[in-house]
Amino acid sequence: MSRRFPLPDRPRLWGVALSHYQVEGGDHCDWTDWEAGRRTRGAPCGDAVSSWEQYETDALLAKAAGANAFRFSVSWSRVEPRQGEWSDDVLGRYRRLVDHLAAIGLEPVVTLFHYTHPSWFHRSTPWTSSASIDRFARFTRRVVEALGGSVRVYVPLNEPLVFLLAGYLDGQIPPGVSDPASFRLAFGNMLSAHAASSAVIRELNPAAAVGVAHNMMAFAPDRWWNPFDRLIAAAAHRCYNQSIVEAYAEGRWNFVLPPLLRMKGRNDDLPASIDFFGVNYYSRLHFRSPGKERVVGDFHYRDRSGRGLTDNGWEVVPEKLGAMLMEASQSGFPLVVTENGIADATDTMRVAFLEAHAREIAVVEARGVPIHGYFHWSLLDNYEWLDGYGPRFGLYEVDRTTMQRTARPSVETFRELGRKFLSVP
Ligand code: BGC
Repeated sequence: MSRRFPLPDRPRLWGVALSHYQVEGGDHCDWTDWEAGRRTRGAPCGDAVSSWEQYETDALLAKAAGANAFRFSVSWSRVEPRQGEWSDDVLGRYRRLVDHLAAIGLEPVVTLFHYTHPSWFHRSTPWTSSASIDRFARFTRRVVEALGGSVRVYVPLNEPLVFLLAGYLDGQIPPGVSDPASFRLAFGNMLSAHAASSAVIRELNPAAAVGVAHNMMAFAPDRWWNPFDRLIAAAAHRCYNQSIVEAYAEGRWNFVLPPLLRMKGRNDDLPASIDFFGVNYYSRLHFRSPGKERVVGDFHYRDRSGRGLTDNGWEVVPEKLGAMLMEASQSGFPLVVTENGIADATDTMRVAFLEAHAREIAVVEARGVPIHGYFHWSLLDNYEWLDGYGPRFGLYEVDRTTMQRTARPSVETFRELGRKFLSVP
């Protein structure tokens, strides 16, 4: 089964990806509460990189870098600061951004959930409660009504599994829950919320394309000859990468995370709820079992590919982008790389990183799997969740005292690769 990418006049997207909390600044939400409890390693988000004021100039920087698309997210906590109270000013602000993007020829790609929630959400309608589905659908309705027909691409959820694992099983991010039963409930509700959100988008904007952005990681045994390491790496691949692809492709999941959790579920609305499947790909993890930190196994980044680790210690393995895309292509949905990028403050690795990942996309396409878009993470240096402002992911460097943006040399490479990517019909 192979479906068509639904933007006939723009079959290929070359863009940058950002998320509201990481760039906007001054957004009070569950993550701010979490930071106040000092539960992150890095500096608090604070003013971020003040994109709330500078979105229009940021969009121009993306344009100058050769992008034809701009992926950003809408802050739920700004739009609905108190349950049921909607801010027209905030919706108007996002509308101005969208109009500006259209005016300068950038396709807006709008994410509705990128990790943060209004502070009231976890008290009132957490993901463990089925009421969360309707809350998210109502938020979707307000946003889609406000943004109008110029938004043709929506991503209701960014990395639902990363959020669920870290927020409901590992307790590392808000809401900080560490409980398999809650994870199970939240998992089902969140996928239902995706389907409900997608239905609202299509009702209001039937021409819109809807996709999910799923984080896919490569997993390898730390010692290739060790059967336990191999077993754990294979199990991680199965649950982390494949179960979400299957959930969207077939409306069924069989999620096994030994020894914590085993769950089967179904949602018949999921397969019809997306028009494309987005892959966020960054790196590879190596498993060793039994582990020192966790009995089942520890995971580490290693420089097995010999390209050097990134500033935040991640391995660079471009060929695994190809492997992940081939895996995702099993779903039959048109594919988009919704995120890919590197923390590299000195910009010494980014050019090779960009070139190698673009080559990998070409290899996948030569195998008969078209890739309809590539979004680089990120346009700007930004706030990095648990690590504050340490890792620098930007094509543009940001000086946080002046908020000045300066192009890194790799912007040239991004532009040149984009020109080639977009010249293919
Ligand atoms: C997330 C981004 C994050 C990036 C780098 C992605 O998985 O969607 O929010 O900044 O990883 O860590």
